Amino acid sequence: MNNYSIEAVNLSKNYGAFSALSNINLKIGGSKCVGFLGPNGAGKTTTLKIFTDMIKPSSGHAFINGVDVNHEKKRALQSVGALIETPEIYPSLTEREALSMIGQIKGIPKENLNESIKRVVEKVKMSEWLDKKVGKMSKGMKQRIDMAAALLGDPDIILLDEPTSGLDPRGMSEVRDIIKELKKENHLIFMSSHLLSEVSEICDEVAMINHGKLLVYGRISDVVSKFYGKKDNIVEISFLSPLSKSSVNKIKMINGVKKIESIDGLRFTILVEGDQKKQAQVLSSLVKLKLGLTGFKSSSGLEEAYLSVFKEVA
Ligand SMILES: Nc1ncnc2c1ncn2[C@@H]1O[C@H](COP(=O)(O)OP(=O)(O)O)[C@@H](O)[C@H]1O
Ligand SMILES: [Mg+2]
Repeated sequence: MNNYSIEAVNLSKNYGAFSALSNINLKIGGSKCVGFLGPNGAGKTTTLKIFTDMIKPSSGHAFINGVDVNHEKKRALQSVGALIETPEIYPSLTEREALSMIGQIKGIPKENLNESIKRVVEKVKMSEWLDKKVGKMSKGMKQRIDMAAALLGDPDIILLDEPTSGLDPRGMSEVRDIIKELKKENHLIFMSSHLLSEVSEICDEVAMINHGKLLVYGRISDVVSKFYGKKDNIVEISFLSPLSKSSVNKIKMINGVKKIESIDGLRFTILVEGDQKKQAQVLSSLVKLKLGLTGFKSSSGLEEAYLSVFKEVA
């Protein structure tokens, strides 16, 4: 049998007359990080909850390693660690106590528990805090403990629902670093996010969802070249102050600039024709225009691809 780690077959979820998920078909295998990208209300959490049997689909199937999660939960979830709407850890517990409790619920044998806890807290860089009370910790630290809890039992498949949401910039970057480390250890990480920059920083592949429909799934570079342009040729430029229409037109006229699109009025993406040499020529032409250029850097193009995917369905 050629089983995928995660497979959705015609997966749908209705709440009354409202269709939260509609006929999702998705097959993901191998060890990599897949970003599950979509705006609020798109259906990300609903999908992840079905894949952990927190809710049942209205129709269709969710398979983990070929096992239907909603029929054989225990067997399917053996190889899964998940962080989805985790309840707050009781504040008077220490990190060690909280993880012991979760480890026991997960059925980790008592004699292995200490060793397992030691391993997971190292991975989330929370070893020093083992005997401190969780109630005293920052949100970012609690999130790392929740990650540690998800990693107990050494799951191959890790499902994360917006793992950095609600954290301050430092907390976000710490959680991202942990995910990047996990990627190196033969896990399949499937994480939802509404942050394009986060997905392009951490993930290898992206699945985009909106209004309960899967719009695209593939390697980020493939999705970007299909919906925007070749990755090597996408450059982000930024300016001191917002550009006027005529300034934007001047940039459009530069030899080698195929396309220019505004990100936020101060930052733009340009698609440059040709190689590095051409990019150098474009940059010097840009500088000569004296528009207050402050930055010129290559872009993943995910933002542009996303906008283009969403424009096509609108
Ligand atoms: N229990 C529920 N009852 C009714 N509607 C729900 C319920 N849970 C989610 N929804 C709706 O389903 C849609 C998808 O929600 P969700 O999966 O949480 O989106 P996301 O995680 O992408 O932000 C939203 O419109 C949400 O309001
Ligand atoms: Mg959600």
